[in-house]
Amino acid sequence: MHDDQKDFLVRTAGFVDEDRDAVYRAIHTRRDVRDQFLPDPLPDLLVRRLLEAAHAAPSVGFMQPWNFLLIRSVQTRAAVWDAFARANEEAERMFPQERRSAYRALKLEGIRKAPLNICVTCDPDRAGPVVLGRTHDGRMDAFSTVCAIQNLWLAARTEGVGLGWVSIFQEAELKAILGIPDRVQIIGYLCLGYVDELYSEPELAVKGWRQRLAIDDLVFEEHWGKQTAKTVIPAEVVDRALPGS
Ligand SMILES: Cc1cc2nc3c(=O)[nH]c(=O)nc-3n(C[C@H](O)[C@H](O)[C@H](O)COP(=O)(O)O)c2cc1C
Repeated sequence: MHDDQKDFLVRTAGFVDEDRDAVYRAIHTRRDVRDQFLPDPLPDLLVRRLLEAAHAAPSVGFMQPWNFLLIRSVQTRAAVWDAFARANEEAERMFPQERRSAYRALKLEGIRKAPLNICVTCDPDRAGPVVLGRTHDGRMDAFSTVCAIQNLWLAARTEGVGLGWVSIFQEAELKAILGIPDRVQIIGYLCLGYVDELYSEPELAVKGWRQRLAIDDLVFEEHWGKQTAKTVIPAEVVDRALPGS
């Protein structure tokens, strides 16, 4: 390593307990929001902080393939909602008959209620045709963009801003409304606004659609499907290990 590069290494350690707990709290209390949005506009500087958090995400080959298209216009959001409604009808018909009325009862977007919508896109050409790290798996630019969305989602949580991800669209329809070029991929359509209440558990679980899986069933050791006493940690031991306990 060159001496001048050494200047960029800073001494580091884990966070002090309070800061660490705050990060875990953001992670565990983040929710997908569909209906709790307040109408107040989000201040520009707050939006900028959220976008800076997104832009700090990791990306394959440091490609930074994302763009953030901010949508506040009532007319544009109405057109996007129409596209959602059409796709949502198609979606309903894909479920078995006995689940359709439960599906219909779910609210799955906050497009018109949230004062700010953000369409997050991925430009596969951002860093030329050959990208460090994407050489053998072309999905990596999309994955990078998802990392940016998760950063934005967690930052929003700390600002008292709710965020809901809406994916029920025909991508071509959404692109036509927003003027997004063919080669650019839509990764997430996000609805944002202040909230003063959030579900304490995922709304889909509260409404009986689907429950959280047991983490112990999802962790393997050394070989696919292999579980050991080490992987399955008794609940009371885990409780003692969690921050704030
Ligand atoms: C890629 C992705 C797409 C999603 N699309 C939708 C959607 O179209 N509508 C919706 O209501 N929620 C959507 N969600 C939110 C999930 O339903 C939600 O994350 C999940 O139910 C867990 O709840 P929580 O985020 O509140 O913990 C999406 C989430 C992700 C990560």
